[in-house]
Amino acid sequence: MSEHEHEEHQINRRGLLRWIINVVVGGIGAVLAVIVGGAVGSPSFRKERSRWLPAGRILGLQPEQPQPVTLRVVRKEGYYEAVDHEVVFLIRGAGDKVTAMSSVCTHLGCHVSWDPQGRVFRCPCHGGVYDITGKVIAGPPPRPLATYSTRIDPDNHEVFVEL
Ligand code: FES
Repeated sequence: MSEHEHEEHQINRRGLLRWIINVVVGGIGAVLAVIVGGAVGSPSFRKERSRWLPAGRILGLQPEQPQPVTLRVVRKEGYYEAVDHEVVFLIRGAGDKVTAMSSVCTHLGCHVSWDPQGRVFRCPCHGGVYDITGKVIAGPPPRPLATYSTRIDPDNHEVFVEL
């Protein structure tokens, strides 16, 4: 084999090697794109949509008397499913409007309770006090109690809370 033929042979081998490496790397990239793309596009990766949860009938609520109800919240992460319980206060106002208010204090997350004598929500941890609309009237909480949207089923008067 002449010097020239030997060089040409070397170049062809390098070109073939480069081609094989490109095919292998490209293949790995394509497989990864399918796996990652599929996972990101899967339902578990998408932001969970809000849910309307049944919270009892409006007829059981006394006007202007916050009523604690425990909502069963199912959270799914991939194949894992967890059930949480969330306490919200339902407050029946004028015109059968129902407000759903979080029971979680905005200071450090303790649970408030309704004081029917003082007509305020009290936090047992650091003395936070909220009025019936959730506004802070005493103590360290930085924000009002959170509220959630509600709707009432016209057929059976069931209250639904959007979490
Ligand atoms: S956690 Fe409620 S006042 Fe601190």
